[in-house]
Amino acid sequence: METKLLAADEAGIRLGAQLIRSGEVVGMPTETVYGLAANALDPAAAARIYKAKGRPSDNPLIVHIADYAMIDRLVAGKPLLADRLAEAFWPGPLTMIFPKSELVPFATTGGLDTVAVRMPSHPAAQALIRESGLPLAAPSANLSGRPSPTKASHVLHDMDGRIPLILDGGECQVGVESTVIAVGEESVRLLRPGGITVEMLSQFCDVIVDDGVLHQLKEGDQVLSPGMKYKHYAPQASVVLLDGDRESFVRYVNEHAVDGVFAMAAEEEIPELLVPVLPFGGEGDEASQARVLFDRLRESDEKGAKTVYVRMPDQSGVGLAVLNRLLRAAGFHIIRLGEEENHG
Ligand code: TXA
Ligand code: MG
Repeated sequence: METKLLAADEAGIRLGAQLIRSGEVVGMPTETVYGLAANALDPAAAARIYKAKGRPSDNPLIVHIADYAMIDRLVAGKPLLADRLAEAFWPGPLTMIFPKSELVPFATTGGLDTVAVRMPSHPAAQALIRESGLPLAAPSANLSGRPSPTKASHVLHDMDGRIPLILDGGECQVGVESTVIAVGEESVRLLRPGGITVEMLSQFCDVIVDDGVLHQLKEGDQVLSPGMKYKHYAPQASVVLLDGDRESFVRYVNEHAVDGVFAMAAEEEIPELLVPVLPFGGEGDEASQARVLFDRLRESDEKGAKTVYVRMPDQSGVGLAVLNRLLRAAGFHIIRLGEEENHG
């Protein structure tokens, strides 16, 4: 199959909507990461998404809507708290999980009787949903196990020959996937951190951070979000998180400066480092780290990195999402500097 790459302008959106209505999969820009969009109500279209990604079919898809009224057909009831959160954070990088209606096929929800719903803020995503007149199932547009795509060129790299069209809407503004929550009457459970932060949600309700956000699941653990159990975001190099201050980070990296060793580091740390650097936003500026994270992990592959050292990000704000993705990229390999080295 030939893969077209078109600007996400009127003509591009029109063609994209046409393809989606005929059951195809289209690369779609959103404010978080690029998605692989198809008709969420058509089991055959959902199956095409799984095939294009090479994704296990028990890992459910998020359904994207453009108007709040669209949600009523998709869910079998939702708590009042959901309305308040939607009013505050939609459109935007928040995904909420509800019991699904009969209209939503199990092929879309990975066999679960719940459905994840989000209203993206990217104008091209909204236009594609409106023009196709359908709720769109869309996982991140990477091959399963690869870093999520934040540029159209990333999507082309992974999906060339696998889907008919990619719409180029520029670089994603948030850079990490949406926050995923299960919504109760008075509290929410955070399953995946993202651009809508714990601090923001806490202004409306109690937020329980699921154990899987920062800890490795053990065999037999119950998994609320199937995505948490798969290896994720991994580049070819081994990523290692170094937990310590700037000085000890620089010292550790420089002491281990051999061929193939790279550092993902804040601008402030770069001049002192003796290894090739993948610039990783500003020190303590989590939003800028989130924006470039996946691009830098992909870059480490292009440059043939064997080991990439990254300093543990701050956990506040969107930093929790950055840490969550880095932990997975690193297979939870953390070295605590200053203590005995090699905690694993
Ligand atoms: O920002 C995003 O959410 C992007 C863009 C394209 O919108 N999409 C995205 O989709 O990241 P995906 O499929 O890569 O990640 C969806 C996550 C997975 O971890 C999945 O297990 C979880 O959401 N999820 C989806 N439906 C669920 C459900 N019904 N119950 C629990 N977790 C669910
Ligand atoms: Mg994904």
